[in-house]
Amino acid sequence: MPDEVPAVRLTSITKRFPGVVANRDIDLTINRGEVHALCGENGAGKSTLMKILYGMQKPDEGTIEIDGEQVSFRTPADAIARGIGMVHQHFKLADNLTVLENVILGAEPKRRGGIDFAAARKKITEMGKAYGLRVDPDSLVEKLGVGDRQRVEILKVLYRGARVLILDEPTAVLVPQEVDELFANLRELKAEGLTVLFISHKLDEVLAVADTITVIRRGTTVADCVDPRETTSRQLAEMMVGSELPTPELRESTVTDEVQLDVAGLTVVTEDGRPVVNDLSLRIRRGEIVGLAGVEGNGQSELIEALMGIRPAGTGVITYGGDDITHWPTRRRREAGISYIPEDRHRHGLILEGTLWENRMLGHQTQKPNVRGPWIARRGARRDTTRIVRAYDVRTPGIEVPAAALSGGNQQKLIVGREMSGEPRLLIAAHPTRGIDVGAQAAIWEYLRQARAAGLAVLLISADLEELIGMSDTLHVILRGRLVAEVDPGTVTPEELGSAMTGAGDAA
Ligand SMILES: Nc1ncnc2c1ncn2[C@@H]1O[C@H](COP(=O)(O)OP(=O)(O)OP(=O)(O)O)[C@@H](O)[C@H]1O
Ligand SMILES: [Mg+2]
Repeated sequence: MPDEVPAVRLTSITKRFPGVVANRDIDLTINRGEVHALCGENGAGKSTLMKILYGMQKPDEGTIEIDGEQVSFRTPADAIARGIGMVHQHFKLADNLTVLENVILGAEPKRRGGIDFAAARKKITEMGKAYGLRVDPDSLVEKLGVGDRQRVEILKVLYRGARVLILDEPTAVLVPQEVDELFANLRELKAEGLTVLFISHKLDEVLAVADTITVIRRGTTVADCVDPRETTSRQLAEMMVGSELPTPELRESTVTDEVQLDVAGLTVVTEDGRPVVNDLSLRIRRGEIVGLAGVEGNGQSELIEALMGIRPAGTGVITYGGDDITHWPTRRRREAGISYIPEDRHRHGLILEGTLWENRMLGHQTQKPNVRGPWIARRGARRDTTRIVRAYDVRTPGIEVPAAALSGGNQQKLIVGREMSGEPRLLIAAHPTRGIDVGAQAAIWEYLRQARAAGLAVLLISADLEELIGMSDTLHVILRGRLVAEVDPGTVTPEELGSAMTGAGDAA
């Protein structure tokens, strides 16, 4: 029970962007030592509110109190000095530095004019032990899986002395086992008296980890002090959307006999000679969704990149609609009807400074409706962007705004809409609904099912096991670059799938 002043109190916060009110008169009280979850649809204003608390955005109106004292943050450095730390929706680590270097970057301990690495290493090791956040300080970040990266991001924030930890969708990229580990870490932090603010679209997780929940809809608080013990995920979703959710209909198979993609004996080798995809064979027929379940870092990314021609295939043959495309360049594959939803939307999916319609053309510069003869057809691109924005419910004031002005989930909807347009024949989809709210997720699933019924072949990779099980016609498990099991999506449970992914169970 709150026996003292709250750790954080936000009062009457309003924040406007051109054409949108991101936060409208929001009040939020967070007690010390609690995990407080923020829920709301894509674009509801969650990240904006947290960026205000972290000094990254200035509110137009309203006040912030930390431990009962009113503060005014000009920059994140001011917020950090008051013990606020934030782990962003998109990772911000430097890949080419080690864990240690990343953690101390910008907060290096100094000794006789140099950096005191020994002191830093000691502190990181101690923190790792105290909070259960163990990672090797000397590994390069680029070698780490997402679960470890997440731990490094959290260590980095704790290293700076955070007492209030803001985690913006920390679980979007994690598989269930990693989520469990993260939650165990959060409980340790709580036991040490830290306060956690947690944003997630996975409502079951919210109910499992939060002490209190606040729901935001279109910039305004619609429910606060929601008690997770007395609420179901469906009720939570309905509070977010403001209406009842439709019940999904049952699936029926649309799989044909016609093979769209045939991968035979594919091996992909890294720069340092390690095989990351190992003699892998796979077929996808028209009208079929083939799911690939695996813990991140087991060859999924490399497989996809080889299929898209971003990374060379070592040995093996990739046949698409009867053509050997093993050595085709990416553009030719795209022109032949292969679409691609990449796993990292900021690195491969969008140009953040570009307008929405310019992003509509990205990767499709040589295809209709973006070209007319040899010319770029701006009007065609604009018109089609408007169509995508409506069809996929991308919440935006217009198509001339930069992609950076969209909320994370709305950026993802734009990519999915773009890749589904132009009647692709094969869709390679990595985490298509990552960071997307439950309502919009159901809509995207429905679009995928419709396209499948029209003959689309899909390779689906996802950390969301419910999504994999619910969408796949055929479901393989990938481990260390090999397909190690095929499970029946009609009967397998997420738990069984999870243990098959670590090579522990025998769900096959
Ligand atoms: N830098 C910006 N410039 C203009 N508009 C912005 C900017 N940042 C956010 N917005 C707008 O503010 C609103 C709230 O966005 P915010 O990122 O806070 O949503 P969110 O709740 O975090 O959504 P998601 O679940 O998709 O991450 C959206 O309409 C978004 O387009
Ligand atoms: Mg957000």
